[in-house]
Amino acid sequence: MTEPNDAVTASHDAPESSATGPEEKDAPLHRRGIKSYVIRAGRMTPAQNRGLEDVWPRFGLTIADGRQDLDDLFGRQAPRVVEIGFGMGNSLIEQAETHPDTDFIGIEVHAPGVGKLLDEVDKRGLTNLRVYREDALAVLEHCLPEGSLTTLQLFFPDPWPKKKHHKRRIVQPAFVELIRTRLKPGGTFHLATDWEAYAEWMAETMEAAPGYANTASADTAPFVPRPAFRPLTKFEARGEKLGHGVWDLIYQRSD
Ligand SMILES: C[S@@+](CC[C@H](N)C(=O)[O-])C[C@H]1O[C@@H](n2cnc3c(N)ncnc32)[C@H](O)[C@@H]1O
Repeated sequence: MTEPNDAVTASHDAPESSATGPEEKDAPLHRRGIKSYVIRAGRMTPAQNRGLEDVWPRFGLTIADGRQDLDDLFGRQAPRVVEIGFGMGNSLIEQAETHPDTDFIGIEVHAPGVGKLLDEVDKRGLTNLRVYREDALAVLEHCLPEGSLTTLQLFFPDPWPKKKHHKRRIVQPAFVELIRTRLKPGGTFHLATDWEAYAEWMAETMEAAPGYANTASADTAPFVPRPAFRPLTKFEARGEKLGHGVWDLIYQRSD
């Protein structure tokens, strides 16, 4: 998992430029060879290993599985929520458990987090959650059908604070347009961050993006008060201890 200071030192970890023409320049990050994450070797606990090895075959999905029919995948029709970069999965597990009538898909590249999530899915007997251990941008593009999602959640993405790394921020015009196409009309894109400069970047990007309406009321716009329905994430808790603020943004697909 990347933390603000790590993100600053991570530029050697990813190939960054294959962009040549104007089309590539505006394409989503993964098509330009830019990554919004750094994969760090981390020790796996026995429970995380169990999740990745024993539980994965029942709940894990890959890009090679291709475009999903979500009704087939879950065996029912239901609201569908996708969380990008769920970290250790606290918020996703809590939501899946408290909303059994909603289906959840988590996307994360961090192996210990994917293992932990799967271990919890099994221990709690959840059937309404599936997981990708892949770059979320490729999953959105190749696997999730257009107009299929009720909500897309992006909680505390890596802020990449240094200016030279801003191109690695996942929130970019091409990314928010890709998300818009995967949302149902009226579906929502919920972003949260504890990094004030990234909150402003998110707001600027979203306000400029066509086909979205901000759900904030005039007195708090562009932000919404922290919604009680959003569970505390590990990064949010850490930010709180450091005295960081929290900014939530909720946009609705209007077009
Ligand atoms: C700062 S952490 C926040 C984790 C969690 N949401 C939380 O609040 O505790 C950001 C996470 O996003 C993941 N991530 C970043 N870019 C990603 C991408 N393109 N696809 C999937 N996961 C990504 C990272 O691996 C990391 O675990």
